[in-house]
Amino acid sequence: MVKLKGRVAVVTGGGSGLGRELALCCARRGMTVVLADVDEPGMAETARLVTEECAGSDCVAYPLDVSSADAVEAFAAAVWDRFGGIHLLFNNAGVAVNGPVWEHTVADWEWVLGVNLRGVAWGIRAFVPRMIAQGEGHVVNTASAAGWVNAPGSAIYNASKASVVALTETLALDLRDVDADIGVTLLSPAFFPTPIAESERNRPPELADTAPMSEIRRKRDQELRHAVQHGRIAAGTIAERALEAVEAGRFYVFPHAKIKDLVGARADAVAAEADVFDTLAGR
Ligand SMILES: NC(=O)c1ccc[n+]([C@@H]2O[C@H](COP(=O)([O-])OP(=O)(O)OC[C@H]3O[C@@H](n4cnc5c(N)ncnc54)[C@H](O)[C@@H]3O)[C@@H](O)[C@H]2O)c1
Repeated sequence: MVKLKGRVAVVTGGGSGLGRELALCCARRGMTVVLADVDEPGMAETARLVTEECAGSDCVAYPLDVSSADAVEAFAAAVWDRFGGIHLLFNNAGVAVNGPVWEHTVADWEWVLGVNLRGVAWGIRAFVPRMIAQGEGHVVNTASAAGWVNAPGSAIYNASKASVVALTETLALDLRDVDADIGVTLLSPAFFPTPIAESERNRPPELADTAPMSEIRRKRDQELRHAVQHGRIAAGTIAERALEAVEAGRFYVFPHAKIKDLVGARADAVAAEADVFDTLAGR
């Protein structure tokens, strides 16, 4: 069992939803928590909750846009300078956009891949070499059920999360080539209640939404909101499952067990070279 007490955790997207809960789970374990997010009031609220619940714990906030490789590198350098090392990195920041794939704009692709895919890549690029040098660490990447099975209306999100699955599995394999004790965990939740359906709130103006609000897009937007709001597992429970996986050194984490059945059903469809697998068909 990995000891986390007294060590430092970095949580991207720590100003809301799952990131806030990950921060709380780390603080409860006696970790110093470093939040990184574009949402400064959100981080202030997370820090308030952490210090309210875990008196004496250290929780600091860094404004950071994870889609900028230079900003993430500068952030890693600053954190290393300040704390002398970190043990846990949660590449968790994420955004979502809906609509039929042919209606997505170039800005939609830039924005969602910038945060969900490149944000994770830049986190690995900046932190893993430093973890290798210190000889230990653990990286948790937040993917999604959408990284494994595809629902309609979320092409960019699905593509970004499938890429996070690929990136994270490859990271774990690549780390076998180095002499350092670095764990990797791939977190793949299905829907759970957070403000993710309001991702536009943090969209940069230079990548503004100009796609048409077509009937299909409106329908998919409503479906996403409904699915997120009615998610049956709380963000706090998912965060706790992630921390338990870190402590146990587990790679795959599927908080919603039914997703594993869907992954198996999709594999069956692939093996049979059948028609495209419809994730929502059984509903
Ligand atoms: N809520 C769900 O149903 C669900 C399901 C599966 C996976 N996820 C994943 O969980 C993770 C957390 O999402 P959430 O549901 O807590 O949503 P959320 O909107 O509550 O949190 C996302 C956080 O990411 C931050 N963020 C957005 N752009 C950023 C940027 N450029 N740089 C830094 N931070 C940025 C936001 O400010 C926000 O604090 C995401 O990766 C998401 O894709 C969510």
